Amino acid sequence: MIVCVCRRVSDQTIARCARAGMAFDDIQLELGVATQCGKCESCARSLWDECRPGQSVAHLHRDDPLAPAQPTLAMA
Ligand code: FES
Repeated sequence: MIVCVCRRVSDQTIARCARAGMAFDDIQLELGVATQCGKCESCARSLWDECRPGQSVAHLHRDDPLAPAQPTLAMA
C-alpha cells in the first residue's frame, strides 16, 4: 500500500527502513516521505514507530506458530 502518494513510498518500504534502524528524519531525507503535502506524516510515523527495533511485540498473535510454546496446566 502506498503511504506517501506524493513520493510514492509504500508501507513496506517504510517498515523495512524502520526495521533497519533508520530514524524517521532519515527516512524523510532518504525517501522524501511527508516532505511535500504532509498528509501522510501521521500514518508514516505510526508505521515507523510500530516497526522500529525495540518496540513491543504486543501486536503479534498469541497463536503465532513461531512463538515459544506456553506451559499448560494438567487437570486432575
Ligand atoms: S502524501 Fe506524503 S507528502 Fe504528500
